[in-house]
Amino acid sequence: MKIINVCGARPNFMKIAPLMHAYRRVDAIHPILVHTGQHYDDRMNRWFFDELDIPNPDINLEVGSGSHAVQTAEIMKRFEPVCLDHQPDAVLVVGDVNSTIACALVAVKLNIPAIHVEAGLRSFDRTMPEEINRLMTDAICSLLFVTEQSGLDNLRREGVPDDRVHFVGNVMIDTLNRMRAAAERSQILKTLNVAPRAYTVLTLHRPSNVDDPATFSRILDALAEIQKSRAVVFPVHPRTRANIERGAFGARIASMTGLKMVEPLGYLDFVHLLTHAACVLTDSGGIQEETTILGVPCLTLRENTERPVTITGGTNRLVGTDPSVILDGFRNALASGATPKTPPLWDGRAAERIVDVLRRWAR
Ligand code: UD1
Repeated sequence: MKIINVCGARPNFMKIAPLMHAYRRVDAIHPILVHTGQHYDDRMNRWFFDELDIPNPDINLEVGSGSHAVQTAEIMKRFEPVCLDHQPDAVLVVGDVNSTIACALVAVKLNIPAIHVEAGLRSFDRTMPEEINRLMTDAICSLLFVTEQSGLDNLRREGVPDDRVHFVGNVMIDTLNRMRAAAERSQILKTLNVAPRAYTVLTLHRPSNVDDPATFSRILDALAEIQKSRAVVFPVHPRTRANIERGAFGARIASMTGLKMVEPLGYLDFVHLLTHAACVLTDSGGIQEETTILGVPCLTLRENTERPVTITGGTNRLVGTDPSVILDGFRNALASGATPKTPPLWDGRAAERIVDVLRRWAR
């Protein structure tokens, strides 16, 4: 069975890596790796391939950045000839980025079955581009691999037949478990001159938080307080850096001497930084999951999450963007700490289970 596997943006790489490794143990599947080029900077791309030992993509579509319509359309235009040329038996997509929906849509229009890894997650917030990508992708895929119970519940409620859905666990956690020992050897705390548990990690890149100056400014109000009591390490996503410059927040941020802005980090340094943090403030989806396994308190700067198990069975708490709620959450997180939690099937073997299902499906 020939399967085209698609990746494009940073959070896809941790998800595709364990699948590419699991295929190596199976003769019946011939994987082809397509990179859409949605993310292209070394720090957002190449570093992850090297550290996670992902094979070089067989094909890179090199689409780069653009508006949603431009980027999605460009991926579709460039992916269609790849499908026509390779005639795969299936196209597998991961996550919820523009590359995910674009390639799934191309495949199904060519009557090639599409497969979605990390299906069923719903924030119920249709202003999030990822929510639209998730809904659309799940609606057209033939096989849906789910990370948590809420995914099963959502797909059932949407009328997806049970025989298309498989609860397999979380491929992102496969990668985390595999890389933790190597991450422990990172020297990033020394480089940044911070001590274990004496700092907070901040990541911000959601358009709803960083594209809207009023919301971004509220988050900065909370940070201005937090950084007085504890260093805040802030690896800055390119979208966020552009907004800091555009919104003229530079001077305000520079005045916060406890806030350390750094370039986006590689996977090993970032996992090390998360592991030893007192608390993590984020609007990322994957980090809510990683902090749950690592046992680090996570405050999510959003009003909703598509990953509710990280709250009910993890270390995550939604704090939104109101400075007083963020500060309350921060004080509570420092006072109570957190212990590692393992949601059902987040055991490092999700990719193995997916490949088992694919083998049976191929017969
Ligand atoms: C995308 C995903 C988001 C994911 C995030 C992780 C969609 C709709 N969004 O958001 O779900 O959480 O990736 O990072 O797919 N840029 C660079 N270098 C790069 C890539 C991007 O400088 O390698 C800059 C460009 O100016 C670009 C901006 O970042 O316009 C945003 O990139 P884009 O891929 O459009 O969206 P993200 O915000 O990264």
